[in-house]
Amino acid sequence: MNAEPLISTQKLGKSLGGHPVLDELDFAIHDREIITIVGRSGSGKSTFLDLIMGLVKPSKGSIKRRAAPIKMSYIFQRPALLPWRTVERNVALPLEIEGIDKVTCRERVHFALEQVGLFYAKSLFPFQLSGGMAQRLAIARALVQEPDLLLMDEPFSSLDPLLRENMNINLLRLQERTKKTILFVTHSIDEAVILSDRILILESGRFIYDLAIDIPKPRNEATLNSRRFAEVIREVRAHLPFHPNLPQQVASEPL
Ligand SMILES: Nc1ncnc2c1ncn2[C@@H]1O[C@H](COP(=O)(O)OP(=O)(O)OP(=O)(O)O)[C@@H](O)[C@H]1O
Ligand SMILES: [Mg+2]
Repeated sequence: MNAEPLISTQKLGKSLGGHPVLDELDFAIHDREIITIVGRSGSGKSTFLDLIMGLVKPSKGSIKRRAAPIKMSYIFQRPALLPWRTVERNVALPLEIEGIDKVTCRERVHFALEQVGLFYAKSLFPFQLSGGMAQRLAIARALVQEPDLLLMDEPFSSLDPLLRENMNINLLRLQERTKKTILFVTHSIDEAVILSDRILILESGRFIYDLAIDIPKPRNEATLNSRRFAEVIREVRAHLPFHPNLPQQVASEPL
């Protein structure tokens, strides 16, 4: 483990369409940490992940990566699966683009599919998958790239609550096995609490709270029913700003 953050930002700011979306963000994520960003719709969570991934350039401030290049995989808010490719070949795509040889590619794809419990479905096409399977496929496609940092933008928000809890516990197990560092975005407080070492609350372009979640690990199904879990959810909720107005009205105001 390295004391230096894997990635940090210094007074990071981003304007889009002439409006400041993010401002003065100081952020750091360390090895094996799971950090979740929570904030209302339009608060700039996806934009922050885009900046970390390097898909968009900062308008202000800087991003520091511990060692170049850090490998990052991004699970987008809308998972883009290729409908004409099987599960196996969807996962293989990033490796094919990298030009990895066929044998290594096959091994790594099979390993990634096993990690998310989809090996049995490797010959199916996306239209034959349930919502949860499609999300697991997106995770396998990210894992196969052996990233140092996994960026996940509301990956489970389209799933029903029970399946979502299942996916959360699976992700925790996967993280225990693979020791990945994860930066996760969600609207669900329950999801943020079960997954996170820290929760950052994004509001008006800034992280207004950085909350350490001290629920012991490993966390599992029993954690979801524990008194401590319920208490922490209440504590986190108490830090969330209440918006009596429509979000658009707030978003259009200058910071
Ligand atoms: N290309 C763009 N041009 C102009 N404005 C943009 C652009 N992309 C995003 N925005 C604006 O930036 C703000 C932040 O968008 P972003 O997608 O980061 O929010 P979010 O927190 O991820 O929201 P959600 O929870 O709904 O996914 C929004 O107000 C959005 O309208
Ligand atoms: Mg978003």
